[in-house]
Amino acid sequence: MCVSAEDVRRAAYCAATLSCPAQACSRAPNGAPGYRRRWADTHAGHDCSQRAGGVPAHWSTAMFVNRILQGDCTRIVQLLPSSTVDLVITDPPYGVSYRDRDGRTVANDDCVERILGVFDHVYRIMRPDTLCVSFYGWQAIDAFFEAWRTAGFRPVGHLVWTKNYTSRSRYLHYRHEQAYLLAKGRPPLPQRPLDDVQPWVYSHNHWHPTEKAVQILRPLIATFSARDGIVFDPFAGSGSTLVAAASLGRRYLGVELDPQLCATIQARLAHSDEWRVAHA
Ligand SMILES: C[S@@+](CC[C@H](N)C(=O)[O-])C[C@H]1O[C@@H](n2cnc3c(N)ncnc32)[C@H](O)[C@@H]1O
Repeated sequence: MCVSAEDVRRAAYCAATLSCPAQACSRAPNGAPGYRRRWADTHAGHDCSQRAGGVPAHWSTAMFVNRILQGDCTRIVQLLPSSTVDLVITDPPYGVSYRDRDGRTVANDDCVERILGVFDHVYRIMRPDTLCVSFYGWQAIDAFFEAWRTAGFRPVGHLVWTKNYTSRSRYLHYRHEQAYLLAKGRPPLPQRPLDDVQPWVYSHNHWHPTEKAVQILRPLIATFSARDGIVFDPFAGSGSTLVAAASLGRRYLGVELDPQLCATIQARLAHSDEWRVAHA
C-alpha cells in the first residue's frame, strides 16, 4: 500500500491538534498516586483515537520510521499501529518542576499524571516479547509504577548510572540517575547482559536542560535491539535516543512536544554518522 507524505503529515497533524478538554493537572491533595483514575476522568467521553478516525487500516509504522513527530505523544501514539516497535527507550519528565541555572524548564514536569497514560499505547505498539527502558523520577515512583503495571509491563531489571559529581544536595548528595527495564511478554535474554550499574557520562546539557548523553544510551540499544530494529522514544527531548539509535544502524521514531527541540533533533541526526564513525 502506497502511503503518501501527505498521509504522514495528516497523521501528525491530527495527533498534534487533537484536543481533550480538562488537561489541567489534578494531582491529589496529598500527592498520592492514582493517575489512572485522573487519566480516565480527564479523557471521559473524549476518545482521541476515535476522534482522529482511529488508525487507518493501511497505516503502518514504516510510514513514521526515521521521523520526528512534533506534538503531544499521548495523542500521537494513538495513531501508531500495534506490535511494530522493537525497543522503547524513553526519558519522560520526572515530575520535579525542574529549572536549570539558565531558567530552562521541561514541559509537563510539574505533573507526570498528565502524561503517564502514554504507556498504555507504548505497550500496545511494542512487538510481543520486547523491552522498554524508562528513566523515571524517584519522587514520582508510585505514579510511574502504576502506569507501567496498568499498561501491562513487567519489571525485569533496574539500571543505575553513578555520577562522579553531586547534582543536588539536600538530605543526601544526589549522585545517580535511574531507569527500569520493563518487559512486554518474555523477551529473549541478550547474548551479553549489561551490568545494572553503569558509569554516568555528563552531557553538558548543551541541547536540553536534562539531556542524556548519547554514550549512555548506545549500550542499551546495542544490547536490546537488532540491527534495523525500530527504536521509539515518545519523549525525545533533544533526540539523544534517536541519535544513538541511528548511529547503531537502527531505525528510529521520536515524538517531542516542543517544536524548537524537534528542529534540534533534526540537526543532531544530520550528524549521527559521526558517532558511527567515531565508535566503529
Ligand atoms: C526529560 S526530557 C527528555 C530529554 C532527552 N532524553 C534528551 O536527552 O534530550 C522530556 C521531554 O519530554 C517532552 N514532553 C513533555 N511532555 C510531552 C508530551 N506530552 N509529548 C511529547 N513530548 C513531551 C519535553 O518537552 C522534554 O523535552
